[in-house]
This record gives sequence, structure tokens and C-alpha cells, in this order.
Amino acid sequence: MEKDFTKSENIVTHLGDEYTKFLGAVVPPIFQTSLFTRKEASFGYVYSRVNNPTIEIAEKKIAQLEKGNKAYCFSSGMAAITASLMNSLSAGDHVVCVRSVYMPVRYFIENTLSRYNITGDFVPGERLEDFEAAIKPNTKLIYLESPSSNIFALQDIKAVSELAHSKGIRVAIDNTWATPYFQNPLELGADIVIHSASKYLGGHSDIVGGVLITKDPELASVGSEERFNYGACMDPHQAWLLLRSLRTLPLRMEQHQKNALKVAKFLESHPKVDRVFYPGLESDPGHELGKKQMRGYSGLLGLTLKTDDHTKIVPALKNLKYFEDGPSWGSFESLFNASSSFSDEATKKKFGWPDNLIRLSIGLENGDSLVEDLDNALSFLK
Ligand SMILES: Cc1ncc(COP(=O)(O)O)c(C=O)c1O
Repeated sequence: MEKDFTKSENIVTHLGDEYTKFLGAVVPPIFQTSLFTRKEASFGYVYSRVNNPTIEIAEKKIAQLEKGNKAYCFSSGMAAITASLMNSLSAGDHVVCVRSVYMPVRYFIENTLSRYNITGDFVPGERLEDFEAAIKPNTKLIYLESPSSNIFALQDIKAVSELAHSKGIRVAIDNTWATPYFQNPLELGADIVIHSASKYLGGHSDIVGGVLITKDPELASVGSEERFNYGACMDPHQAWLLLRSLRTLPLRMEQHQKNALKVAKFLESHPKVDRVFYPGLESDPGHELGKKQMRGYSGLLGLTLKTDDHTKIVPALKNLKYFEDGPSWGSFESLFNASSSFSDEATKKKFGWPDNLIRLSIGLENGDSLVEDLDNALSFLK
């Protein structure tokens, strides 16, 4: 009998761990080396910006989790994202991007790619017609993030990919929110999947990293040249920590989902909460599509609070005991982030954010304790 590497739990625990290669060690070593000598060139390693055995194990596992063929690890999620954009676009090209994308992606398109004569349009993305209307003769890439940042709006990955491919356009998607445990965009037709490994893949708030994955053999080199030339490679120690984290990805995601659903249901019925943005809720506009293209929902959600003065929000949230005020997400600890509620009107409009929007990253604490904590903090919102 062969090990079944179609199952996430088996991939994270066993794929690529070649015990005989590493003196029987159950945890593969960190190859903390920049160089591999020419004397041993037959092993195929050269220089750790190009390849490294520890990083390769992480890449193998993530490629298989995403049902892809090739993965490249980067020094951050943004390094993987910019590699996907630079690989897919040339001077004169156009990109259609989802409006509520992770903010620096939009700024990279607007402020950096524009200097190379690449233009971009930003669409809400909940309807296929949004993309149909934005596509131009020179569109070469559709960039998705489903669910998207802060408002967690979904795009129909299969329908958008079919539309794009009928016009010779590539589709890249940021799958950081759902993780490969809950969603596999390559199976739905996307060409490039990107992750910030700094979130759930890492899961312990101790690494910054990124991954780019493809399935089509013709796209197998996407990311390779960019990593080699721009130099944003992952460090072997980072990759080792990522491997440590991946072993518990399925367990962690189940618990994030369980806690987030409990919190989302509580918030949905709270009198001081206007709306909850979480596709795991049956009331969420993305729920039906979510059921079609995802197997579950992670722990990051948004909510709008009923208040006529947004400056009252942070003082009330400061009463939280388990949730710290912090900008990242996807890790063991719960966090709140109210920064979008302090954005100017133009920024809110640009990204499609409503007033008084708050983001909660639901961690791995006891779910009832998190609900109690939120209930107490909301009582301070007058
Ligand atoms: C949805 C999303 N994608 C990508 C990134 C960028 O990842 P990194 O911080 O690893 O560069 C982030 C970071 O917050 C994010 O929220």
C-alpha cells in the first residue's frame, strides 16, 4: 500500500520527509548554507537563492496541498505577489484586479507598474459582469483575492477563469485567507496561486514568508526567474519553521473555523453590531458560492459597529483581554484591527470598505472565552 497523498493530513505529516536521506531524522534538518560545492554537483544544489533541500520540502508539500505541480517559496507574501504580477505583465499590458485586494497590491499596480506603462482597473468582483466590463484588448491578467481583504467578498473562481481563458488572459489568486486546506483555486481553473505564509501556513506569528504555486507545466517557471533575479528568496530557517507549522495546518484550521463561526454567530445577533462579514455565516452574500468553491472557512472576519462616532471604537476594544490590537492575522493569537475605520472617505470608497469596519482574527483560544471577552468589550461602546 502506498501513502495517500491526496489527503492534506498525510501531505503535511509525511510528503517529502525522506528519512533515509537525513540519517533517520523524523524532522528534516535546516540546511543553513548559502553554497553547495561543485564537487557534489550531482545532488543538483547550487546556491540557496536558487534551491535548498529544506526549502524544497516545504515547496513539495505546499504544491501538493494546492493540487499543483510546482511551488516556489519567497521571503514574503508580497514578494510572491509581485513576482506573479511581474511575470504576467509587460509594458503596454492591463490588469483587472479585485477592488478590496490587500492594500499594497493595489499600490504596487497603481504606483510601481504604472511607471512601466502597465495599467490596472479595480472591480468589486462579486459579479462576473464586473470582470466582463473591465477586460480590455490588452488585458493579460485577472488578479483575484477570494475571500478578499477586510470585507471578505468572494469571486467565482471557476467562472472568472473560464472567462479569462476564453480571451487568453491569465488568472492569479491570493489564497491566503482560505489556505489550501479549505480551497484549491488551481482545480477551479486559476493559473497561479499565491500565499502569504506569514498567516495560517506559518500560524505562529514567527515567520514572514510567501509561496507561489502553479499546475500547468507551461507555467512551471513562473516565479523561478523572479526569485532568482530579484532575490526575494526564503531563508532555510524560515522554511524549517514553515514545515513545523504545516504539520498542524489541518488541526489549526478546524479550530480557527470552529471558533470563528461561534464568534460570528454571536456578533450577528449582538445589538451593537450592524453587520458581520464572514462567508461561513448562512446570512453572508458569499455563503452559497463559498459552499461551491470552498471546503470550510478560516478565522478572519469583519464587522461594522453601530456608533455615530468611530473614535469610540478603539477605546471600547481596548477592554478586550484575549484580543491584542495588531495588523497581521492567521496565527494562534486573537487580534483586532480597527485601522480601516480611521481611513479617509476616498480610501474607503476605493477599497469598498463601509464605515466603522473592524477586523477580528480569531485565534486558537477557547471559543467561549473569546465570545465572553467580546461581549464584555462591546458593553463599553456607548
Ligand atoms: C491577503 C494578504 N495577502 C498578502 C499579504 C502579504 O503578505 P506578507 O506580509 O507575507 O508579505 C497579506 C499581509 O497582510 C495579506 O493580508
